[in-house]
Amino acid sequence: MKELIQTIKYQVESYEISNPRELESFRIQFIGSKGSLKELFGQLKQVPNEEKKEIGQLINELRNLAETKYNDLKEQFENTDAASGSIDFSRSGEEFPVGSHHPISLVRREIIEIFNRIGYTVSEGPEIEDDWHNFSALNFPPEHPARDMQDTFFIEKGDNEMALRTHTSSVQVRVMENTQPPIRTISPGRVYRNEAVSARAHCFFHQVEGLYIDKNVSFADLKQTLEYFAKEMFGEKARIRMRPSYFPFTEPSAEVDVSCSICNAQGCNVCKYTGWLEILGCGMVDPNVLDASGIDSGIYSGFAFGMGVERITQLKYKVNDLRLYSENDIRFLKQFTAVL
Ligand code: DAH
Repeated sequence: MKELIQTIKYQVESYEISNPRELESFRIQFIGSKGSLKELFGQLKQVPNEEKKEIGQLINELRNLAETKYNDLKEQFENTDAASGSIDFSRSGEEFPVGSHHPISLVRREIIEIFNRIGYTVSEGPEIEDDWHNFSALNFPPEHPARDMQDTFFIEKGDNEMALRTHTSSVQVRVMENTQPPIRTISPGRVYRNEAVSARAHCFFHQVEGLYIDKNVSFADLKQTLEYFAKEMFGEKARIRMRPSYFPFTEPSAEVDVSCSICNAQGCNVCKYTGWLEILGCGMVDPNVLDASGIDSGIYSGFAFGMGVERITQLKYKVNDLRLYSENDIRFLKQFTAVL
C-alpha cells in the first residue's frame, strides 16, 4: 500500500499541465469521484488496524498535495481570458477604424494620372535646393524679391547657398540639364515659403510643375493641354481662361482660371461672384532658361506650368482652410475614407 501511495505521489508531482484541458484530466485521474485518491481511501478499510493511522496520514498528505497543485494551476489559468474559456468565440469581431488617403495625396495622384494619359512622365527633385536650380537658372534677377529672406527659408547663406525650394520649377531645370527633348514631364512635390500661417497661406504646400519641350511647341499646345486638364479634373463643363501675367522663367506668361464648378460660373462667394477661380501659372519657357539648362533655344521651344495641389483640392473638395491639411484632425481626414 505504501508503495502504491508513493507511486501515485510521484505521478501527481510529475504530471505536466499546460492548459485547462490537461488540468481537468488531472482532476479526474486523482481527485475526482472515481479518481486514485477515492480508491486509496476505499482500500484503507483493508489495511490492518495498526497501520491504518500511518497509511491514512499518507493518503491525506497525498490528497493535500494533489488539491494544492490543482488549485494553484486553476488560479493561474483563470487569470488568462483564453484559458478560462471566458472568450466568446462566436462574438463578431471588433471593428478597426478604416484609414484614409490624405486629400492632398488623392488629388496629387489624380493630377498625375490625368497627365500620364497624355504621355507625361513623373520626375522629382530635392526639397533642399541650391540657388542655381531654384532661382538663377530660372532667370530670376539677383535682386528679385522672391529670393528675399522674407519668402525663402535659407539653410545656408553665402557662397554655397542652400534653401528649401520655394517652387517645383527647380525640377524643370534638373530635368532639362539631364535630358534632351522631347521632354514631357510633371514634377509633384512639397515646397516651402516663409509666410505666416493662416487659412489662406501656409509655410509649406504642394505643387505640380509641368514641362513640355520639343520642336515647334506653341502657346496653342499649352492652352489645349490645360483645357484637357481642367475638363478631366473638374468635369466636361469646365472652361478655362488665360490672363496675361509675369514669371521670370516664362515669356509670355499667363495665369489660368477655371470656371467655378460650385456655382456653374454663375457667381458665388467662393469665386467672389466672378464665375472664375485661379488655378495655375504658365507660359512659354523663356529662351534664357532653355539655354541655361543646356537646351538649344534656337531649335527647341516649350511650355511650362505650375499649380498648387492645395488649391485644386480646395476646389474639388470644398476645403476652405489651408491649415486643415496639416493638422491631422481625424474628423477632417475621415471624410475621405470613401475615396480610394
Ligand atoms: N513657380 C510658380 C510659383 O511657384 C508657378 C509657375 C508659374 C510655374 C508659371 C511654371 C510657370 O512652370 O510656367 O508660383
